[in-house]
Amino acid sequence: MITHVARPEEILDSPAVSAGLVRVERRIRRLSTSSRLPLINRAAGRITGAGGKRLRPALTLATALALGGSVSNRVVTAAACVELIHAGSLVHDDLMDKAAERRGVRTLNAELGDAGALVVGDFMFARAGLAALSATSKPVAEALASVIVELAEGQFQEAAELFDPGRTPEDALRSITGKTAALFRASCLVAHPAGRSMAEYGERFGVLFQILDDLLDLASTAERLGKPVGNDLRQGVYTLPLLRALRHDCADVRSFLGRRLSEDEITALLARLRRSHLVDDTLEYCRGLASDALSALPVIADPEIARVLYGLPTAYIDWAESMVVR
Ligand code: IPE
Ligand code: IPE
Ligand code: MG
Ligand code: MG
Repeated sequence: MITHVARPEEILDSPAVSAGLVRVERRIRRLSTSSRLPLINRAAGRITGAGGKRLRPALTLATALALGGSVSNRVVTAAACVELIHAGSLVHDDLMDKAAERRGVRTLNAELGDAGALVVGDFMFARAGLAALSATSKPVAEALASVIVELAEGQFQEAAELFDPGRTPEDALRSITGKTAALFRASCLVAHPAGRSMAEYGERFGVLFQILDDLLDLASTAERLGKPVGNDLRQGVYTLPLLRALRHDCADVRSFLGRRLSEDEITALLARLRRSHLVDDTLEYCRGLASDALSALPVIADPEIARVLYGLPTAYIDWAESMVVR
């Protein structure tokens, strides 16, 4: 039986965050269509305009409000830069993965070829950097530039460890921290001069967010997710849930590592993993991260914003659990 669990983004539906997101949306649109070249504007605008949950900019707005700040123009620009960096990283990620679809539209690599996707992703990173320098503060611009470095390092490490049967859970965690959690951390950092007090929350939430994405690739279905499953195995990305399972009750699965798998092997491996403790182990691991994240939150006076920030990590875990097929 499938019980309905609300989309976790619904928790962001607080009046103050929603009102801020409307302004952020306009800034994202303006920044991603600010090239002298109409073709670049069309390409970048297509990805940023195709949707996405806007989770990271929402985190920036909620953090600003949690720390007693307001949604100033600087905060709106910082939030838009965060989303632009995220979108640029997706453009490059899809290029690296040879993916054909993102946010329900064709990827830029599928549409324009690899060279086009490469430079439009570069444009998005650089445009975010320029906006941060001209319309926020030096610490915010530095935090955003550092994220792009960490993102590149995390993605590079993952690419260097493809099909590596010696990859450990610690290796996967290091890569996730760079490729995903660094931007969640920065989403909090750039919100307010005291943003550092929320950085640990952002980082732990980011780690668990990526681990849930990795789990669903192994334990959900294309019908439920609206995207193919088993992609990480297909591409040789041995993710944290899989690597932890190898150490627990799936040592036999090692025979599938270190090589390309046929579609029949992927189907068999997914069925084997779903019969194991992988799902329960990963969800429990994420609950531990959620509890660490919440314990890193400062006192939040605004009850609406406290509800959002306290509720988000658990809402994602509950939603992911509802998407799992055992
Ligand atoms: C996708 O992030 C990449 C991961 C870190 C798993 P999101 O799931 O937040 O993507 P959008 O922004 O909603 O498209
Ligand atoms: C997220 O990793 C990519 C970045 C953080 C840049 P994934 O490769 O798991 O994301 P999806 O599954 O393609 O959305
Ligand atoms: Mg990917
Ligand atoms: Mg993934």
